Amino acid sequence: MSKDSLALTDNRTGRSYELPIQNGAIRAADLRQVKVSEDDFGLMSYDPAFMNTASCASRITFIDGDKGILRYRGYPIEELAEKSTYLETAYLVLYGDLPTKAELDEWTHNITFHTIIHENIKKFMDGFHYDAHPMGMLVSTVAALSTFYSDAKHIFDVESRKKQTYRLIGKMPTLAAFAYRHSLGMPYAYPDNDLSYTGNFLNMLFKMTEVKYKPNPILEKALDVLFILHADHEQNCSANAMRAVGSSQADPYCSVAAAAAALYGPLHGGANEAVLRMLKEIGSKAKVPEFVKKVKAGEGKLMGFGHRVYKNYDPRAKIIKRIADEVFEVTGKNPLLDIAIELERIALEDEYFIKRKLYPNVDFYSGIIYQAMAFPVEMFPVLFAIPRTSGWIAQWEEMLLDTEQKIARPRQVYLGQDKRSYVAVEQREAGAGKAGPTKPKKAA
Ligand code: SDX
Repeated sequence: MSKDSLALTDNRTGRSYELPIQNGAIRAADLRQVKVSEDDFGLMSYDPAFMNTASCASRITFIDGDKGILRYRGYPIEELAEKSTYLETAYLVLYGDLPTKAELDEWTHNITFHTIIHENIKKFMDGFHYDAHPMGMLVSTVAALSTFYSDAKHIFDVESRKKQTYRLIGKMPTLAAFAYRHSLGMPYAYPDNDLSYTGNFLNMLFKMTEVKYKPNPILEKALDVLFILHADHEQNCSANAMRAVGSSQADPYCSVAAAAAALYGPLHGGANEAVLRMLKEIGSKAKVPEFVKKVKAGEGKLMGFGHRVYKNYDPRAKIIKRIADEVFEVTGKNPLLDIAIELERIALEDEYFIKRKLYPNVDFYSGIIYQAMAFPVEMFPVLFAIPRTSGWIAQWEEMLLDTEQKIARPRQVYLGQDKRSYVAVEQREAGAGKAGPTKPKKAA
């Protein structure tokens, strides 16, 4: 009868150990018993960028990267995209089950009636340059919300967490829309609580002089589905930032600001913006082969391709591609789509990408839709951050309530200088003892 354990022999001492295997993992702490002497600290696991390290146990999102499976609380993303709404999905991601009608009505009311922001926040917005990147404005203004809600520090009070959840999910679209309007020099358009979550967001973005903004129902629905697809994605870089900052017991606004800052990077949520810039740089279908050749030569990346977990097609990309057709019915076809489709066709046939299992991810087509909906590329990561707020809060709350979790503080493998004595400045030689050269990372 096979046992759920790992038998190890330390060849340095000849000693053997048996480590229990649970849920497909061993506990890294169990390695500490492997020592060469009594005063030995014991073995650690070394895993740069957590390529093979589970930082937590979670019940929120399940991904099978080889099969291209994504489920929120067990529900396939394809079914939620077809049958649910973003607010209903946010409730599911946060509280673990689909809400009853009464629960959904209460949830929707609570979010809707927390869309307005303190008037003083407009003063921060006005302080930014006209061309300030809206993601930089969002990161800083969501952190600033913590200065308005001191009760947010009561992170172990369930009612306080609920209140901050309503405020964060309700106010992120408002902050995002105000940042957008600021960049245009337009007056801020206030929330209209008669509208849906995405309808109101479109209202705050695009309302002109009409008394009441009427969102295009096809665009409203398309954005709602895009929000569903972006709600959570287990332990991605920004969720990890949310958990790490939250583990020090910082308030949820500062933790969301940290998560949004992580999302801003071009390798993460900033990729949708980078995809558009890449497609514009390519310029035409005819130039795709030349661009692909450069990527294969290591001159840059195919933005919107590849994923740490998905080694098959990102299931979200398939759904987004379908939404694109519905949006283009309204907005007219985006000429960049032809370049994207040609890029995908070539990449999916090319050994370089096949060998590295590089397929289009969630960011590859989303940017094309956002551009067709008249969003400037700088707004794309903001459009990712808004719906991901529900996932960040769900990950944060799960971490807070997990009795196994404590402040995140990884260890290191130290390869630096051994003990040495101070040298008076007169006796120092240029370059003596400087840390060795480090290999520069390739830019995105
Ligand atoms: C998101 O984690 C999540 O879940 C994130 C996300 C979410 O919902 O939260 O899904 C959202 O961030 C999607 C990813 C968006 N990013 C991009 O589209 C940027 C382009 N993609 C890459 O930078 C890359 O694929 C990552 C960052 C997404 C994943 O990188 P990994 O897993 O660390 O893989 P790697 O960089 O080690 O690449 C392995 C190989 C390397 O080649 P070799 O050195 O082995 O020769 O694949 C190559 C890489 O150079 N490679 C690419 C590539 N991505 C990886 N080559 C060209 N173009 C690319 N896009």
